[in-house]
Amino acid sequence: MRTPQVVPFLLLSACGSLPRAPGTIVRDPHSFAEPNRARVTHVSLELELDFGAREARGTVVLQVERPEPAAPLVLDTHALVIDEVTGGDGTPRRFHLGPEVERFGEPLVIELASGDREVRVRYRTTERSEALQWLSPAQTADGTDPFLFTQGQSILTRSWIPLQDSPGVRVSYDARVHCSDGLTAVMSAERLGRDAQGAWRFRLDQPVPPYLIALACGKLAFRPLSERCGVFAEPSVAEGAAYELADTERMVQAAEALFGPYRWGRYDLIVLPPSFPFGGMENPTLTFATPTILAGDRSLVALVAHELAHSWSGNLVTNATWSDFWLNEGFTVYCENRIMEVLYGAERAATERLLAIAELERELQTLDPWQQILRMPLGSRHPDDGFSGVPYTKGALFLSCLEAAAGRERFDAFLRGYFARHAFQSITTQDFLDDLARELPDAAAAVDVARWTEQPGLPSDAPRPESRSLAAVDAELARLAAGTPPSELVTASFTTQQWLRFLRGLPETTTADDMVALDEAFGFTSRGNSEVLCQWLELAIQHGYAPADARLEEFLRDVGRRKFLKPLYMALVQASPERARALYAQNRERYHSVVTTTLDGIVGR
Ligand code: BES
Ligand code: ZN
Repeated sequence: MRTPQVVPFLLLSACGSLPRAPGTIVRDPHSFAEPNRARVTHVSLELELDFGAREARGTVVLQVERPEPAAPLVLDTHALVIDEVTGGDGTPRRFHLGPEVERFGEPLVIELASGDREVRVRYRTTERSEALQWLSPAQTADGTDPFLFTQGQSILTRSWIPLQDSPGVRVSYDARVHCSDGLTAVMSAERLGRDAQGAWRFRLDQPVPPYLIALACGKLAFRPLSERCGVFAEPSVAEGAAYELADTERMVQAAEALFGPYRWGRYDLIVLPPSFPFGGMENPTLTFATPTILAGDRSLVALVAHELAHSWSGNLVTNATWSDFWLNEGFTVYCENRIMEVLYGAERAATERLLAIAELERELQTLDPWQQILRMPLGSRHPDDGFSGVPYTKGALFLSCLEAAAGRERFDAFLRGYFARHAFQSITTQDFLDDLARELPDAAAAVDVARWTEQPGLPSDAPRPESRSLAAVDAELARLAAGTPPSELVTASFTTQQWLRFLRGLPETTTADDMVALDEAFGFTSRGNSEVLCQWLELAIQHGYAPADARLEEFLRDVGRRKFLKPLYMALVQASPERARALYAQNRERYHSVVTTTLDGIVGR
């Protein structure tokens, strides 16, 4: 898309020296919008959710700032039907949709009248509106009602709202949502209750990138967790969710002590049906979460710490373009780990870090060099094509390295200042590096910053945490390798994280018979912990362990989380492409579009 304009920009910005005039917005190659000419500042939605037709329809009113008074307003859309566009005086405005660019959508170009400060677009979504996942009752936990949720990140919001879908274009928003009685609508915003027409009303005054506008609607119950925290879930899931998430308020308090005030009012979560494609999504005031974190023993709550941490890194200070995605995720993984340390101690935090580093090292072997670079040279590639553990784990390691150079106390002060200085702004990697050089010049000089941000691979100064609990697992793995039968290993007090280390450390030479003995000793096939189960199922595929087949098929049917499905289908393709294709054909329509896009590339269609 727009290649002639994109390429020179990327060359320039890659040199790290593109000066940006105050108040202007960084060029984003993944958006058609031209926000420095005419720019959306507020979004007012009125939507009716038609579960029968699987269509959302209504209007959006956009407030517009116009630095270049003669310029048209250019919006991003994807697979939307635009019925009508009117200006500030309520009369029609001329508009046209540009040609569709695959996966990026179509620009909606609107000719504004000179006095227009707002435009109203009447529109409908279609079955190709990728952000939306409409679930049948059978795809929910309770099975009684349909369900809808949206997923905006990275560039999907344009498929349910016509707007300027760039993380550099921050907007406040309000909304009215109509749905059938008996269903509850929730959004990533303050909840204002229902109005006289029965519409659910919302408002978010803090300006956010459009990928954070989110909606869910279904049969929902609510359980308070504290004064300002609570959890929405389907009625049959609510009790278990409240138990699992009981530490949420303590996490918010720990995060505030570390990073500064929580600026969003409430912090709630919604546990979605299992087809939710991610572990979590940091929608402001309301984290969206997969039910696969409900392990029953609170062992997977690092995900809550992660999505909560995005309230600072990501939502308060946002990546200006998707090439700067590590500013969102690397900072968040670092902050998540700091929260985990406060709540559960240094050993637990080190364990999670070390597990992640081991995964990153494994993954790096499969990635192209460009995918290993923190400031990612996406060019006109889709942001999702750069998705990997690199922005997450390598990004967090870079910050740990800076922390080691500065000392923790000074680094913490820097972090708090960073969030305050850039609050409600979208910034680039260069902005961060400039800030670092100003505030912590000695640390910036002590670390080879350019090696970290511009080069592939993992720099040799990457810190390596030590974890006693993982060392204990490695000792048991060594005993297993030396011939000790599984049943005689010392595993009684193993945590989820230790079991993951154990399964990942089994030798490649493990046979189907070994799998039988392991399953007999440890009951992996019947585990309820999704992380442990998924790791086991991957091994079961690789080592031809047929007794796990039924469990595998059930998992592929019920769970839509990409992080789990991707390795399982990759293993299936390796073991038997026909079986992979058959299972995928059975389940494909149950998965969200971000997952089918990934899996189509692995399994084929
Ligand atoms: N913001 C991400 C999810 C995301 C990233 C959606 C890119 C679309 C594009 C979210 O915060 C996240 O990272 N979720 C992780 C969990 C986390 C504990 C690493 C996930 O979903 O697995
Ligand atoms: Zn994240």
